[in-house]
Amino acid sequence: MAGALGSVGAVLPRCSFLLNPSRTLMRPTKPSLAAAIRASPSPTTATATIGANAELALEAKVESRRNKLACPICYYPLITKNDQNSASTYGYTLECNSCKKAYLNNETYIDLTVAGGSEDYSETMPAATELFRTPLVSYLYERGWRQNFVWGGFPGPEKEFEMAKDYLKPTIGGTIVDASCGSGLFSRLFAKSGMYSLVIALDFSENMLRQCNEFIKQENISKENLILVRADISRLPFSSSSIDAVHAGAAIHCWPSPSTAVAEISRVLRPGGVFVATTFILDILPSTIPVLKTVRQYFAQATSNTIYLSEGELGDLCRACGLVNFTCVRSGPFVMLSASKPR
Ligand SMILES: C[S@@+](CC[C@H](N)C(=O)[O-])C[C@H]1O[C@@H](n2cnc3c(N)ncnc32)[C@H](O)[C@@H]1O
Repeated sequence: MAGALGSVGAVLPRCSFLLNPSRTLMRPTKPSLAAAIRASPSPTTATATIGANAELALEAKVESRRNKLACPICYYPLITKNDQNSASTYGYTLECNSCKKAYLNNETYIDLTVAGGSEDYSETMPAATELFRTPLVSYLYERGWRQNFVWGGFPGPEKEFEMAKDYLKPTIGGTIVDASCGSGLFSRLFAKSGMYSLVIALDFSENMLRQCNEFIKQENISKENLILVRADISRLPFSSSSIDAVHAGAAIHCWPSPSTAVAEISRVLRPGGVFVATTFILDILPSTIPVLKTVRQYFAQATSNTIYLSEGELGDLCRACGLVNFTCVRSGPFVMLSASKPR
């Protein structure tokens, strides 16, 4: 067991403050530390005070990041154990305090799917989820696939990012989950922007997360405030009311059950937290033709895939899941929507 879980700590500690506490301890930029240096009469006392203060600050920072991750079964925060028997480089194990399930990671991401780590059990998701798990689609995604969305009115990641930032203003400084991040085009932009204290790049696809990690390395992006998590949108590994913002680019139409997904997003958002998403919209087809709705329902049943919703349905979906202040902007089939958790 310990062997199988050996690398569990290797992802959390990839946040370099966990990996190398001295890096954080030595940072001279904090005004409180500088003030402590100036106020202290003796260099030895000053060093000790700095050390103690910084250690407390570090512990609080590490603890608050750990607390963001929860068991996808119980929704209780995961605890990081100093496991001396673990083969993990840093001796950390992520474990649910309630059901005691331990969660695996590899070099790239923490696997917080419910079935993650099962040896015999596996299940197939609907086609729109499985498609993105393939190595080929994950590789091609930012190498042409995503660019094609321009034909559906998507303005392109940079412009979409700027638009999303407007909605996200009330959540600056907090934690953002880039849900269904794919190869991480927005997770990387959020991490580089410094807007958030923590960016969680989350996807169900192992290969998308690997691609995301590759791009992070290529672009030399610090992982101090960025973690990669494998999870199902219908079972988010966060405690209720613990997240400031959820962004989901071009993903709602890929989710097996948009209502379960948005309900989960609503659950994890704190009061006043913001949900921003883009998707393709369907109501360019006349909604007055009932047969279209019926055909769509049959198609969805037969393929177990959701197809594109209308603006009215998207608003209804958000409200049904307890979100308020629904608003959206559109350009052809492209829509960016936002809604928030009531205060
Ligand atoms: C079209 S890509 C969007 C990627 C990126 N957010 C963007 O804006 O281009 C849709 C993503 O949804 C993810 N996805 C599909 N089903 C999911 C599920 N059940 N849970 C989490 N992510 C899922 C896929 O793996 C894929 O990466």
